[in-house]
Amino acid sequence: MTVTIVGSQLGDEGKGRVVDLYGDGADVVVRYQGGDNAGHTVVEGGTEYKLSLVPSGVVRGKVGVLGNGCVVNPATLFDEIDELRDKGLDPDVRVAERAHVILPYHRVLDGIEEDAKSKGDLDAATTGRGIGPTYEDKAGRRGVRVGDLLDPDVLRDRLEYVVPQKRALAEDVFGVETGEEFDVDALYEQYLVYGERLAEEGMPVNCGEFLAGQVDDGNEVMLEGAQGTSIDIDHGIYPYVTSSNPTTGGACTGTGLAPTVVGQGEVIGIVKAYLSRVGTGPLPTELGGVEGHTPGYEGGDDSDEEDLATYIREEGGEYGTVTGRARRVGWLDMPMLRHAARANGFTGIAVNHVDVLASLDEVKVGHSYTFRGEETFTMPSTTEQWGECEANLRTFDGWDPVDWSAVDAWDDLPKHCRDYLDYVSDELDADIFAVGMGPDREDTLVLDDPF
Ligand code: IMP
Repeated sequence: MTVTIVGSQLGDEGKGRVVDLYGDGADVVVRYQGGDNAGHTVVEGGTEYKLSLVPSGVVRGKVGVLGNGCVVNPATLFDEIDELRDKGLDPDVRVAERAHVILPYHRVLDGIEEDAKSKGDLDAATTGRGIGPTYEDKAGRRGVRVGDLLDPDVLRDRLEYVVPQKRALAEDVFGVETGEEFDVDALYEQYLVYGERLAEEGMPVNCGEFLAGQVDDGNEVMLEGAQGTSIDIDHGIYPYVTSSNPTTGGACTGTGLAPTVVGQGEVIGIVKAYLSRVGTGPLPTELGGVEGHTPGYEGGDDSDEEDLATYIREEGGEYGTVTGRARRVGWLDMPMLRHAARANGFTGIAVNHVDVLASLDEVKVGHSYTFRGEETFTMPSTTEQWGECEANLRTFDGWDPVDWSAVDAWDDLPKHCRDYLDYVSDELDADIFAVGMGPDREDTLVLDDPF
């Protein structure tokens, strides 16, 4: 069977912990979208592994697959594999031949386009990894795929077609001088070597066929989404989104497993007990602000809200794993979660970071919005409309910190924390599978195992 893990908010919900937790029951762990824009840290046997592309399950000896919905930077891929080997592991990583390849010009263009967009406040605060430009080329049918790296003639043809266009874009449209990143010969030499290594290590696979075979053989497959529903290219707060589909549909198109296969499995939505995000655009339940990201925000004052924001940011370590940037924080946004539950079809949820909210006198949630004078319970379709929404807050009694590592059962959780979690579960009509109460693997209360 399959278990799909999906971020229900804006990314950084703590999916890595849940993948890590339930990954023990999986034989194969698959990423189905995104690239090296996702950061997670896994600690195994006292050793820390920082991964942004390779599925974290490989650290525990699982087969890791990068699905066709991913965009793969071979330099990052091999760096991560080499680092795992240096630390004594023998990672088994497969890469879909249909996955698209990030080339150096994609990263350059990511930076140039973000700069240009920032003049009109349209920049998405991307991770700068070339993700968007690579997906643009995929949709524009001018991309280079992993399978192309394995065939020198095809690779040469692809590069000869696309690179002059990219160079012209950088030079003529954006007025930027270009270098080796836009040179066909240099790219050809470099990427041919990547292709040879991929082949030598037996990594390329026909992803759908490979995974369907695994399912047919009775193996357990975990499908790991990166980022989150509200930064999904279709269902998120466009244009402040990533360029792929973190939602459950992406788990089908991004792997080649049929919706009827994925739909027979479990879909676990990962919820952070409050909200955090990187990037610009509206955020109706935001507390305080982050300069340069919160619209109209020009620095903090000493209001209670600002103190709360700082407290949550510090307690929750709300700084980007890949970029180190301070994240914006806010109360849990229920319309956002209802939207996610519907779009993804959650069969369960895992709620993380309840420890971060401990010690607060009261904890609020945005229960609904007021939009153009009407109460509404889910997100509107456009980001501009979302910006008009005012959150109607509901207040819960706060809970005191406890020895989280000693929480072994639902009843060990503080009563007010249980009330809060019950509310979220009822509103989303999804059982709680796990509760995250601290950074370590042991700080997780496991109520149900999806496998
Ligand atoms: P990109 O994915 O680098 O193109 O960035 C597009 C948007 O998605 C930006 O707002 C990023 O901050 C956001 N984003 C990308 N990856 C992550 C992630 O792993 N967690 C949270 N936000 C992300």
